[in-house]
Amino acid sequence: MVVIKDLHKSFENQVVLNGISMHVENAQNMVVFGRSGTGKSVLLKCLIRLMEPDAGEVTIDGKDVLSLNLKELNILRKDVGFLFQGAALYDSMSVRENLEFPLIRNFEYTQGKIDEKVSEVLEAVSLEGEIDKMPSELSGGMRKRIGLARSIITKPKLMLYDEPTTGLDPITAKEISSLILDLQNAYKMTSIVVTHDLLCAKIIADRAIVLKKGHIHSEGTIEELLSDKDPFLVDFFSDEVINKNGRD
Ligand SMILES: Nc1ncnc2c1ncn2[C@@H]1O[C@H](COP(=O)(O)OP(=O)(O)O)[C@@H](O)[C@H]1O
Ligand SMILES: [Mg+2]
Repeated sequence: MVVIKDLHKSFENQVVLNGISMHVENAQNMVVFGRSGTGKSVLLKCLIRLMEPDAGEVTIDGKDVLSLNLKELNILRKDVGFLFQGAALYDSMSVRENLEFPLIRNFEYTQGKIDEKVSEVLEAVSLEGEIDKMPSELSGGMRKRIGLARSIITKPKLMLYDEPTTGLDPITAKEISSLILDLQNAYKMTSIVVTHDLLCAKIIADRAIVLKKGHIHSEGTIEELLSDKDPFLVDFFSDEVINKNGRD
């Protein structure tokens, strides 16, 4: 589904991505770990050219992303969902309007079709009763679920999640991670998930990579990475992930 070859991205004289190569199989969930500032968000943005990479190749669903013109890129982006770090709902819009927004912007559906899709996705996140509420009337966890619903309502083939559980309490973080996994399976999506949250990664990941100084330091299943004796990995999984979140 996703093939990345030798991806490079620098800002002025700071090298952020220094030759990243990886691939994600169809319907698999790949987790991306790495210390703060190692280029995880930059990597996600480069994949769909929200940032332009300097060099390399990105193939998504067979399409050579870096050679697409703007029109072709916009067509591809309809198949890619992106849940940004700290993604917020539109405060002045109801839950229903928030969910309708990506459908109205990207497709020419009838109101009947839109209503059907809104109901379906609300059921998937178990918030059918909240359809006419405003975001301010919902808890943080509920807003996150609606944000998730909004990013999958167009049924993307590929989902990119940037720190989906950051800022949530541990119980809500676990619920959201399980919900992400359920939605991935129900909608048969492929995903790349940037996270610091080891519990989230354990729930969601088929495989994971660890970024270090612009390259991929390691790749494997979570179990393989956690049992690896490599000093960088041991250190990373002790202080960065486990202690930071104070659990697991
Ligand atoms: N638009 C930008 N302009 C300049 N530097 C940037 C920009 N975006 C990110 N960077 C730099 O790239 C590095 C990686 O950023 P980022 O991908 O956001 O890290 P993280 O792994 O924490 O998500 C950081 O040093 C950041 O300052
Ligand atoms: Mg980031």
